[in-house]
Amino acid sequence: MTTEKLLAPIQSFLKCETPQAWIDEAVKKKNLPIILIDHLICELKAAQSAMFLIRKYVVDKASGDVLLAWLQPFETLIYKREGDWRTLAAKNKLTKSVIPKADSSYGQSLIDKMVLLIKEELHHFYQVLEIMDEYGIEYRSITPCRYAKGLLRQVKTFEPDALIDKLIVGAYIEARSCERFAKLAPHVDKRLGDFYISLLRSEARHYQDYLTLAKEIAGPEQAEKVDNRIAHFAEVEAKLMTSPDNDFKFHSGVPTNIS
Ligand SMILES: [Fe+2]
Ligand SMILES: [Fe+2]
Repeated sequence: MTTEKLLAPIQSFLKCETPQAWIDEAVKKKNLPIILIDHLICELKAAQSAMFLIRKYVVDKASGDVLLAWLQPFETLIYKREGDWRTLAAKNKLTKSVIPKADSSYGQSLIDKMVLLIKEELHHFYQVLEIMDEYGIEYRSITPCRYAKGLLRQVKTFEPDALIDKLIVGAYIEARSCERFAKLAPHVDKRLGDFYISLLRSEARHYQDYLTLAKEIAGPEQAEKVDNRIAHFAEVEAKLMTSPDNDFKFHSGVPTNIS
């Protein structure tokens, strides 16, 4: 599939394109460390939130613990700064199977899609570490930007609406990331550009999978409600992208502190 074909549904799902001012800032050499470190954290967060959904909604404690053990060496590297990142590629696997609770109608579907997603995000996480190593960029802890918080603030507080909203938020974060990688790719050096392009296929599928799950779980009788929530999050997301933002990150809005 060509890049344009891959991006077409994403461009129509998103209400706006990434502003040029953000791209201009993101391609500056001096901002490469912040872009890569933030990207690294986004990959881990993507794995963590997918895992949270499986643990909260569809499995028992034993399966939940199997999942947590999978993530643990990746989290230890970032939060405790312990372990050798080079060993992580071999650790990206589930050691036991994860089984949905018997009463969950969507459990298997959510597990199948989210386990694949986690595996891919952790692989991306490793690939970003490889690139940082090549470019001599050292990890340092950074604060999260307003983006994910701004979306999650809109999530309903009661079920099943909260789950549907979280899945829609997942779809927006994946779709925007995909759009931004495609926007950056032509402006960075070949090694990094090729990496960004290689991410598009899986990030586009992640966006699709989140959306499919939201619709599946809501069921056909709630289809209109899901469409309304998608429209709502589209507005909120576009506002986060197009409004001024003084904290430059991978998912930030229009940069205001340009130097
Ligand atoms: Fe990813
Ligand atoms: Fe993703």
